[in-house]
Amino acid sequence: MKILLILFCISTFSFSTVLEDYLNDLEKKVLKEKPTFKGFDYKRGEKIFTSTHIGKRGKEVSCTSCHGINLNESHKNFFTGKMIKPLSPKVNKDRFTKTKQIEKWLKRNFKDVYNRVGTNLEKGDVVTYITTKE
Ligand code: HEC
Repeated sequence: MKILLILFCISTFSFSTVLEDYLNDLEKKVLKEKPTFKGFDYKRGEKIFTSTHIGKRGKEVSCTSCHGINLNESHKNFFTGKMIKPLSPKVNKDRFTKTKQIEKWLKRNFKDVYNRVGTNLEKGDVVTYITTKE
């Protein structure tokens, strides 16, 4: 009986991560705006992450300017020169573990590159890209 209870607890609680909750929440919001929405898309996320725009201080930047194209490696911040640890949760266990942190940096970083905040759809697409890229 005890074992069954433990198994039940594991299956209902432990398998839902901050990342899953975050994406599910974004998905609900997108569906409200657009009922035909079919799910977040890696390819759209890739474009958001790698395309270049006139961003902060009028510079041509992309997300890769600070995070690089290999998300399993550290990369130099384009503006400050400081090293930023890898974005991929596969090699950096601190990534996508706190909703507040994810939201704070997405907000700031979309402004750096796009001069505006990201939409729920864009955030879902780009997070899908970052967290599933090899
Ligand atoms: C000007 C440099 C810069 C640019 C451009 C930039 N970032 Fe960041 N990003 C940072 C810094 C600095 C941090 C916080 C330091 C850290 O977490 O190592 C960060 C953190 C993040 C995180 C935090 C994840 C977590 O849970 O820890 C995500 C997600 C992220 N960036 C995504 C993006 C996306 C998407 C773009 C493009 C829209 C982008 N970044 C563009 C500098 C940048």
